[in-house]
Amino acid sequence: MKTIRFGIIGAGLMAREFASAAARWCHLSDAQARPELVGVCDQNPSSHEWFRTHFPSVSQYTSDYRELLANKQVDAVYAAVPHNLHEEIYGATIRAGKHLMGEKPFGIDLPANTAILKAIAEMPASFVRCSSQFPFFPAMQRMGEMVERRAFGRILEANTGFLHSSDLDPTKPINWKRMIEFNGEYGVMGDLGMHACHIPFRAGWQALNVRAILSDIITERPDGKGGMAPCKTWDNATLLCETRDPVDGVQFPWVLKTQRIAPGQRDTWYAEILGTKACARWSSANPNVLQLLEYTGSEQSYRSVETGYNPAYKTITGANFEFGFTDAILQMWAAFVNELVTKKTPSQFAGCATPAEANLSHRLFTAALESAASGETRPVAHS
Ligand SMILES: NC(=O)c1ccc[n+]([C@@H]2O[C@H](COP(=O)([O-])OP(=O)(O)OC[C@H]3O[C@@H](n4cnc5c(N)ncnc54)[C@H](O)[C@@H]3O)[C@@H](O)[C@H]2O)c1
Repeated sequence: MKTIRFGIIGAGLMAREFASAAARWCHLSDAQARPELVGVCDQNPSSHEWFRTHFPSVSQYTSDYRELLANKQVDAVYAAVPHNLHEEIYGATIRAGKHLMGEKPFGIDLPANTAILKAIAEMPASFVRCSSQFPFFPAMQRMGEMVERRAFGRILEANTGFLHSSDLDPTKPINWKRMIEFNGEYGVMGDLGMHACHIPFRAGWQALNVRAILSDIITERPDGKGGMAPCKTWDNATLLCETRDPVDGVQFPWVLKTQRIAPGQRDTWYAEILGTKACARWSSANPNVLQLLEYTGSEQSYRSVETGYNPAYKTITGANFEFGFTDAILQMWAAFVNELVTKKTPSQFAGCATPAEANLSHRLFTAALESAASGETRPVAHS
């Protein structure tokens, strides 16, 4: 089996999730290639320790990403760094001729995202994707398959979102994800938005316009040094968009919510599609149940389908077991490695988010900022 040698830049929370997925690659039953972790870069050397303990395959530890990019042993990079560094590090990675899985939002703002797209255009041999794992839950794969075979009929409405309650506690100290200079003007949209956009964009449902309501609920937080620091990032975002089904040209509403202060929601991703022939809804709060309503002309009722362990990339796990967050991460990485090697995905919805899809999210969030500032509906610019 072919081996893709990976380097990590930014060895924090998400880098450990990737490394853990790579360590259980044997879980995948028909993988075309496998990742091997050979390099780790983090400016904070204490982040290296966990990798030293668990990954004897790593031969390079560095605090300078340029050294990792100069390493000829590295074929591909997973970059999971604060948003203010995306433009510089993603651009340098691509121009070094490496393949790249970049984290969302794929640039701190639209100009940074545009600069990353420019680097991609200059280096067509580099395979580049944006991290977004939630579409890999079996229920979402099934919803995607229903979109593909037009099972919904005429689409009436879509609702997608990602809700957290991680910031409900006002005594939680501030960190980079709550600071505009590191996280960006998008605030919660930059943090959670790509997840909620991935399935609609893959369906071809680009936002045409948006009316956004953005809330900064907790305006200061403990600074960790005994004082308080301003917390200016948007905590919650509700976006009412108009979109168009590219198959029949019909326009319909899409409501997207990303919230850091959503009481009762710990880490809930959801999607709902309403159509004239069928409706489907799913929430990661109940990850193994897809609710389906198929309209046959008689009484309308939702049925609950136990989706089981039936992912896009086959594994050794029996079909009756449950599927969870770390399984979705493994599936996303399987999708990345598979597409890198085979140049194709097994189905429309079984691929990682593309740079073009990340760019659509930037155009939407930029228009959302304008809408929130003006109180008006704003068109979403498309190239
Ligand atoms: N896909 C998901 O579900 C998901 C979840 C959380 C975060 N993220 C994204 O992942 C990225 C990283 O988030 P995280 O939660 O892992 O953050 P984190 O703070 O846990 O890790 C970031 C790491 O980057 C390191 N770093 C900072 N500057 C650096 C530099 N110049 N060179 C090398 N390393 C540097 C930090 O020391 C830190 O260890 C962000 O883009 C975030 O939006 C994605």
